[in-house]
Order: sequence, then C-alpha cells, then structure tokens
Amino acid sequence: MNATSVSKLLLVVVTTLFVLFLGCHSKVTYDRKSLLINGQRRILISGSIHYPRSTPEMWEDLIRKAKHGGLDVIDTYVFWDVHEPSPSNYNFEGRYDLVRFIKTVQKAGLYANLRIGPYVCAEWNFGGIPVWLKYVPGISFRTDNGPFKAAMQGFTQKIVQMMKSEKLFQSQGGPIILSQIENEYGPESRATGAAGHAYLNWAANMAVGLGTGVPWVMCKENDAPDPVINSCNGFYCDDFSPNKPYKPSMWTESWSGWFTDFGGPIHQRPVQDLAFAVARFIQKGGSYVNYYMYHGGTNFGRSAGGPFISTSYDYDAPIDEYGLVRHPKYSHLKELHKAIKQCEHALVSSDPTVTPLGTLQQAHVFSAGTTGCAAFLANYHLKSAATVVFNSRHYDLPPWSISILPDCRTSVFNTANVGTQTSVVKMRPVDSRFSWETYDEDLSSLDESSRITAAGLLEHLNVTRDTSDYLWYITSVDISSSESFLRGGHKPNINVQSAGHAVHVFVNGQFLGSAFGTRKQRSCTFNGLVNLHAGANKIALLSVTVGLPNVGRHYETWETGITGPVVLHGLDHGPKDLSHNKWSYQVGLKGEAVNLVSPNGVSDNDWVQDSPATPSRSELKWYKAYFNTPEGNEPLALDLGSMGKGQVWINGQSIGRFWMAYAKGDCNSCNYSGTFRPAKCQLGCGQPTQRWYHVPRSWLKPTKNLIVVFEELGGNPWKISLVKRTVHTAAAR
Ligand code: GAL
Repeated sequence: MNATSVSKLLLVVVTTLFVLFLGCHSKVTYDRKSLLINGQRRILISGSIHYPRSTPEMWEDLIRKAKHGGLDVIDTYVFWDVHEPSPSNYNFEGRYDLVRFIKTVQKAGLYANLRIGPYVCAEWNFGGIPVWLKYVPGISFRTDNGPFKAAMQGFTQKIVQMMKSEKLFQSQGGPIILSQIENEYGPESRATGAAGHAYLNWAANMAVGLGTGVPWVMCKENDAPDPVINSCNGFYCDDFSPNKPYKPSMWTESWSGWFTDFGGPIHQRPVQDLAFAVARFIQKGGSYVNYYMYHGGTNFGRSAGGPFISTSYDYDAPIDEYGLVRHPKYSHLKELHKAIKQCEHALVSSDPTVTPLGTLQQAHVFSAGTTGCAAFLANYHLKSAATVVFNSRHYDLPPWSISILPDCRTSVFNTANVGTQTSVVKMRPVDSRFSWETYDEDLSSLDESSRITAAGLLEHLNVTRDTSDYLWYITSVDISSSESFLRGGHKPNINVQSAGHAVHVFVNGQFLGSAFGTRKQRSCTFNGLVNLHAGANKIALLSVTVGLPNVGRHYETWETGITGPVVLHGLDHGPKDLSHNKWSYQVGLKGEAVNLVSPNGVSDNDWVQDSPATPSRSELKWYKAYFNTPEGNEPLALDLGSMGKGQVWINGQSIGRFWMAYAKGDCNSCNYSGTFRPAKCQLGCGQPTQRWYHVPRSWLKPTKNLIVVFEELGGNPWKISLVKRTVHTAAAR
C-alpha cells in the first residue's frame, strides 16, 4: 500500500468514526426549512401517545404500530401531578415510568418529543398541575409569580436531569429531538399583559438554560423568544408561519379527532379532511406534523379533567383506545406518510413555486435541481372535482383534495381517495355473571370523628384537596311544630346551589334527587319538595367533582361544590337560608376509607351487607364480586350500559369514572362535504357518551379478579358484562 492509499484509508476511517460519533451524539438544530438531525434536514411525522393513558404492557405494541403507520416521532406530555402527588414525593412507577416509555420509543428506532409543560391542558385533571400547588402561599399559576416559577423550574429541571442521566436526549445519543415548555400560552399571555410576557420570557430562558442540546418549542405562542420555536396547533395550520424567517414551520397538534365529555356527542374527523390538512401544510413548506392524538387511550382513575371529560380518550385517533388500528384512518395516513417521504429530498431542498391551475386549483412544485422534483396539486373547491393540466399531463382532482407527485409526474396519492379497508368493531359479551356482594354507603355509618365543622359553606376543593371526588355537606334544621305544612299545607322545598360539578341531596336519610352541571355550565341547582318533621331535620348534600378544570384563565381559582345559597322555601316565616348554618364536612366515602376496592382492603365486619338472597339496588351503593379472566388476547371492556354514575376498580386499579350521560344537543350531524371547516361529525344522539370501559388485560390474573363498583344513582349491576373488543377489516361499501 503506497502513501496515498494509506492516507485515503485513514481519511475514510476518520470520516467513518466522525460520522459514527455524530450519529450517536448529534446535536439537533434547525433552520428555516426544518429541524436538522445530524446535520440533515428532515420532514418528520409525529404522533401523540400519552404514557399514563395506556399500560406499560401496551406501549411496545402501540409504538410499533405507530412506526408501521409511517411515524418518525412519538410525542408525549409529561404529567406533573402523577409524578409528584405530594410535594417532593415522586412516583415514576408503572404507567408513570417515563424513562421506560422513552426507552421503548428508542428501542423501536423512533424519535421523541418531550412536552414537559409542565402545564399541559390535555383534558387532564387540573391541566397536569398538582392540586397541592394551589395551596402554596401566594401562588398564582402561569404568570410572573415567584412561587409558581420556583415550582415549575424545580419540576422541569428534575425531568430534564432524569432524561440526561439516562442519556435520552439526541445530543447524548438518545431519542429526544425536541422539548416543549408551557402549552398554548399565547391566548393567556395576551390576556395577562406585562406579567404574562415576563413569565413567557422567563420560561423560555429557564428551559434553554437547561442545556439539553435539542430545540425547545412553545406551541400556540407567537411571541416565543429566540431560540425557542413557535409552533401551530389546530385542525388546520396552513395559515401558520413561524415568528422568525429562520425558524421551521412546525405543527405540534394536528387534531385527528376530538375528545368526548360525559353527556356530549362522539366526535369524528374524516381522514380525508385530516390528510388534506396535512398535505396542505407540507405543500406550504411545513416540515413537522404531530397528530394529536395518534393513540388517545384511557383516562384511568381520576385523571380526566374538564370537568366532565369522559374516561375514554379515544379521540377517533388512528389507533383506537384499546390499541387496535382504526381503518381507514390508520391506513390512509400511512399512505400519505409514504407519499410525503418520497418527496422528502425535494421538500427540504427548495421552496415551493406556486402556479395556478384554475380558479381554485394550484400546483406547489419543489424542485431540487437535477436531484429531484416533487409536486402537490390541490383542488380547494369544496364540492366540485377538477381536471387540471400540469406539465402537459391531465390530473383528476376530487373536491377538497391534494394529489402528491413525488417525481412531478406520477400521482401516488390523493387525500380524498380513501382505500376500501374499514374497521368493523364488535363488543362481544363473554359469559361472565357477577355475584355481587353489596354495601350501603350509609352516611350514618361513617366515622364522625374525622369530620370538620365550620360556620357556613366551604369550597369543595379547599376541603378535599382532591383526595376524593366526594364531599358531604351536613347540617341540621329545626322545624317548629307550629309550621302549617305539618298540618296538611303545601310541602316546603329545598333549593341547593352548587358551583359544580354534581350534587345528590338527602334529607333525613331520604334521597331527594340530584343536579348535574355540564362542560359548558359547571354550576347546577337542585330544587325539590322535601319531607320535614317537627324538630331536628338532617340535611346531607353529597357534592361530587367530575374531573378538575384543565384550561381557562386562572382555573386554579374557580370554585367548586356547594357555594350556596341553600334555602328552604314554603315555611310560615318565609325562606330559610341555611348557608350560614353550622355545617360539618366529611371528605370521601366509607368505601374509600376502608379501602374496599383493594384486594388487601381492610374488611369492616360492622358494615352491614344485604343478604345475598335479597340484593337490592339504590343510590350510593357498593358492589363487589370476583371473576375469571376470559381466554384469548382480545382487549376487554366492561359494558356499564345498565349503570348510572360512579367509579369502578379491578384488582385495586381504578378503571375510571363511569356515567351513562346521554348525548344531546348537536349529536347528529356530519358536515363532511359541507362548506364548513373543519369537516367533522358529531354522533351518538340518544346513546350514553360512554358505555364501554377499557379493562387492560395486564391488570388481570387468570382467576379471582376483584371488581368493585360504586354506584351513585341506583343503576343495575346485575346487567354488567365483560366484553371482548374484536375488529375485523372489511371492504367499505
Ligand atoms: C389543545 C391543547 C391540548 C388539548 C387539545 C384538545 O389546545 O394544547 O392539550 O387540550 O387542545 O384536545
């Protein structure tokens, strides 16, 4: 080997080592076209999968399906409240094992976007911020406030440090290529003025100062200061441009469907419209798209926010709540991703040349000189198809569609031409009969020593600190024997005003009824006739939360519970306001106190059960049974269609809140081909918003699984069944 060959060989070795080194430890940067990983511009397709909304046993499969669907990146929020349930007491176990989740993404060969927030919105309880933070003296959330900033910085640093010590940032050879600080602060900062602006700049500097070696994003925040990238969230983002010409155009939430709330409709977003929106964003030079959600999953336990967000967070996402792919959404998007990837080189190498092809038709051409050319042919007409001529060839474009031509000649994909595969879902009952033991949630059996008393009505959350959904408000009223209603006059009635979210009213142990708020109107009023007797009468109001708010200006200050007034009408001396009475307060239920839901729960032999021969149903009742796991590996659910409202646990794990609240209002419309954007369907009129509740198989053992149900309204548990979810793919009609 002569000297030249040796030096050539050396050069090759050194270059290879350098590239290998870079490959393992590449800094992520950006320019106006895209993110650069390892110095390479990239078009990246991402999907949100939130780790606590599924089980660790599901993660690998979900991520594998995401990869197969053409994704490069998995995006997740970080949920502060579950990681720090009380100050400095951390939990990163099980569904909260963030490191394991990110490593699962890495193992699949995908990248990650870590949206730390730590305010996340996300239809999550309190927007992901721990409720205890509200009680730090002098705190005010998401503004230029010392205590809030200190806590936010502490948690953000902790997460970044945890990722760093596991070498999970791309700059260390890990999968994380991007991080997010705050969430949609734009509308908030506009309303908050100077303090909002100061906070925004502080948040950006704080995040950048953590030195992750990967860019930070602020979504829906046009004022994101350099070097933080501002990104778009929405059903469409084609009108978006970053706040500086040297930043890439990124779409952090492309809404694949929508969430549901108890009593609301089921939302669907037709995949044609979603694909159109994504193709339109890319043709305008966008280089990063994240589907929110790619797998929505389940709001287990009391993690749903809102209030009134349902336990299912299916979102009409490409992978359904149970982890099964949803056709045609999944398959159509997969084809879209393939087509976009074929154009990647041209897309990152040039800016589009836009030429009209008709009044409402356009071509966007990306020409990378001799190395490539890609074209997007768009028809924006909502109703009429068009035939356009491009480079002397004819192309048929359905209404509201984009064709992708990775070589500027052959159309490989059109957003409106959906393949014939469609998923047919069945929920098949398995032979499972539950033999229930029943327990009355009887207020009189509760341990009174744990009660607090106060003059007047207390705010619900201030008393419970969200340790339970339930808070009893108890008072007594003396009725004189001279009242005329006692001698056959008109019965009095009771009026109870609650700031939300629901209240059940009992007088002298008798259930009078309930009142419920809605997502739009959290507060509610109960008004009903009441049986009173001469002497002391006991008024007991069970106030119930249904997920704490996750969005809205200073939602941490919003009131919940019986804020009053509570008034008796129809007495001889006019209305009697009980609001300033002495009230006693009982946090939580007896079933919660004795841990009835746990397989190792303390059994309370004094707690009267119905005899198994004469089981009954009524309000405020616990049901307990055992069952064996059905064979097979199909996902499982509980059909709770016969129930009212409450919570359910299996082997001590909370499946979540259930509520057979029926969809009303706008629940029967599909404006898919209408003139309205975005195209979406609202369905489910006359049906409960959520009838089936996901039971993860990994929470079960072969035999003797404990199921515990708490029912508030008197539903029929003898009709509860376990069902298997099966899906087969059929040709669409
Ligand atoms: C966005 C928010 C998300 C989620 C979404 C609706 O505005 O950033 O966290 O709440 O709306 O599902």
